[in-house]
Amino acid sequence: MGKTGIKPKHFLTINDITPNELLELLDSAIDLKTRGWIAPLKQKMMALVFEKPSLRTRVSFEVAMRQLGGQSLYLSPEEVGLGKRESVPDVARVLSRFVDIIVLRTFAQKNLEVLAEFSSVPVINALSDYEHPCQALADLLTIYEIKGKLKWLTVAYVGDGNNVANSLMQACAMTGVNFHIASPKGYTIDPAVLKKAQTYAKTSGSKIMVTEDPRAAAKDVDVLYTDTWTSMGQETEAAVRREAFADYQINEKLVALAKRNVIIMHCLPAHHGEEVSVGLLDSPQSVVFDQAENRMHAQKALLAWIFAKK
Ligand code: CP
Ligand code: NVA
Repeated sequence: MGKTGIKPKHFLTINDITPNELLELLDSAIDLKTRGWIAPLKQKMMALVFEKPSLRTRVSFEVAMRQLGGQSLYLSPEEVGLGKRESVPDVARVLSRFVDIIVLRTFAQKNLEVLAEFSSVPVINALSDYEHPCQALADLLTIYEIKGKLKWLTVAYVGDGNNVANSLMQACAMTGVNFHIASPKGYTIDPAVLKKAQTYAKTSGSKIMVTEDPRAAAKDVDVLYTDTWTSMGQETEAAVRREAFADYQINEKLVALAKRNVIIMHCLPAHHGEEVSVGLLDSPQSVVFDQAENRMHAQKALLAWIFAKK
């Protein structure tokens, strides 16, 4: 419960918003992009609790909050010791006494759930092993801006069925974007996520393809998307993963199968020469830096919306 007795609005997974709310957030992000610095969140304080490294998420959240008139403080992995130095419920109850919103980057999705349960202020998922919903907002915003629509476009995600894929697949299914995913055996999308995406797709009309064949996934698509083969926390598996994913690189051959005006996306950080061929992210088809910038615009919309809900 919040300080007012009202349950705060959390954003722990992409399912915490409805398809309509997602579309509203995209429109709001486009609007906020033209408005620059405004002050709806004056005297609001945001805590960023990060258990993993970050460039985009930390900076985009900090700048977003400043541009909305609020302030932020960053707590590094060493400082909080979530669940080690102090229990997650205690961290939630203490932070809620000081700040108006908590943004958490963590390993287990459960940490977000427990933090939210015991927090009297909203909690945002800034990446867990399970989902990266803020990334999906920025991804759809980028596609929407560049293509001028979402419905009936097709995104092909080639690579690991990971946190980024989990959020993106559902966000696409929510908004009528067809979604193809090609992953090697053992690294496929979580069946529970697929099921949720299929449920959204029934309403939105989006078509979902799950395959082991990157060529089948890439054929005639509007967007080619990939992410690292080894996510944060999986470093000891890097050699095994490099082998498993060797045929899952986005490169010129795959691009040639897609539509002529295909755009190439990557949440970054990228490993040039692994999941994406060297030079491809520097090509005119790559929109990865617009995508990175949109993290901030999408999160401004999200922050403004969450506080408006409170
Ligand atoms: N895409 C993304 O979340 O980047 P960071 O890990 O640098 O925040
Ligand atoms: N899947 C990657 C995304 C990084 C933004 C990871 O979790 O490390």
